[in-house]
Amino acid sequence: MKKNNVLEDGYGRRFYYLRLSVTDVCNFRCDYCLPEGYQSVPKAPDLSVAEAATVMRAFAQLGTQKVRLSGGEPSLRKDLPELIQAARQTPGIQRVAVTSNGYKLPSVIDSWHLSGLDQLNISIDSLDDNEFARITGHDCLPKIRAGIDRALALGIQTKVNAVLLSDGAQARLQQFLRWLKTTPVTLRFIELMQTGDNRDYFASNHLRGSDIEQQLIESGWQLLPRAIDAGPAREYVHPDYAGRIGLITPYSKDFCSSCNRLRISAQGKLHLCLFSDAGLDLRETIRTGDADALAEKVRALIGNKEVSHYLQNGNTGGTQNLSIIGG
Ligand code: 5AD
Ligand code: SF4
Repeated sequence: MKKNNVLEDGYGRRFYYLRLSVTDVCNFRCDYCLPEGYQSVPKAPDLSVAEAATVMRAFAQLGTQKVRLSGGEPSLRKDLPELIQAARQTPGIQRVAVTSNGYKLPSVIDSWHLSGLDQLNISIDSLDDNEFARITGHDCLPKIRAGIDRALALGIQTKVNAVLLSDGAQARLQQFLRWLKTTPVTLRFIELMQTGDNRDYFASNHLRGSDIEQQLIESGWQLLPRAIDAGPAREYVHPDYAGRIGLITPYSKDFCSSCNRLRISAQGKLHLCLFSDAGLDLRETIRTGDADALAEKVRALIGNKEVSHYLQNGNTGGTQNLSIIGG
């Protein structure tokens, strides 16, 4: 691996972490994301395995050590195991993660494990089967939970993401807490973000993560120190619980100052921020397979990364919903 100097933006931020979307298609209909389901649009094919490998080589040169394959729903790609392998085999990439809605987890997790997966993030907004079905449009929570048990048995570090929603929040929290007593996963509560598509839903369902955080602190949860390559979550532990709880609060002050990630869409566009206006098209360079040239392109564009997402001002950039670049 050729490593020039590590990529840094104008605010001293470095990018240890690449989120690579491998498809924007999703089969779920989460209320806050794709309430009408995925609507197909004419577009170029998703990045091939070879193209994804070029992207990962380029980012590894720029200092990236961790790749997360995201979507849409990445497991809709039949070749996801090959994509995991390509990440695993990229010199300099030390951790390979997948974010999935988990809908076919029990039947695929062993192949992901064999391909070299280190870390798995599964989205579960409620542990109540009926409520889960109502939010996502799919009545398959028991299957997803069986998949998580299998991932844990295989030794894969497993996190569960739950979007905080105001209606019924306390009942959901109590159910999650009961589960965490004995289940060694990290549960991350993610504050609902406003996107171009979900304005009304956001207005009636947004719940501040800091309210939940305060409640946890009062019941004895303790904040852990943050690792250098960690995501934006503040993680809490409690002596009576096998699991951990993380809080991701994009509306909190200084959320963006520790940003350590860049995103590439399934169409090969660089997104400097989840909420930047439009992706910067790198497909032509990606297609050539020239990772050095691609790394230089990214280096030339990084100066455009802004200091903050300006979400608190109601700015949602070009982001209509998060299936496009996977949250
Ligand atoms: N706000 C917060 N999280 C969201 N996700 C999707 N849309 C939103 C939103 N508007 C989450 C999913 C999943 C991850 C991929 O992104 O629930 O946990
Ligand atoms: Fe739900 Fe994620 Fe699919 Fe959006 S992309 S509908 S949040 S599973």
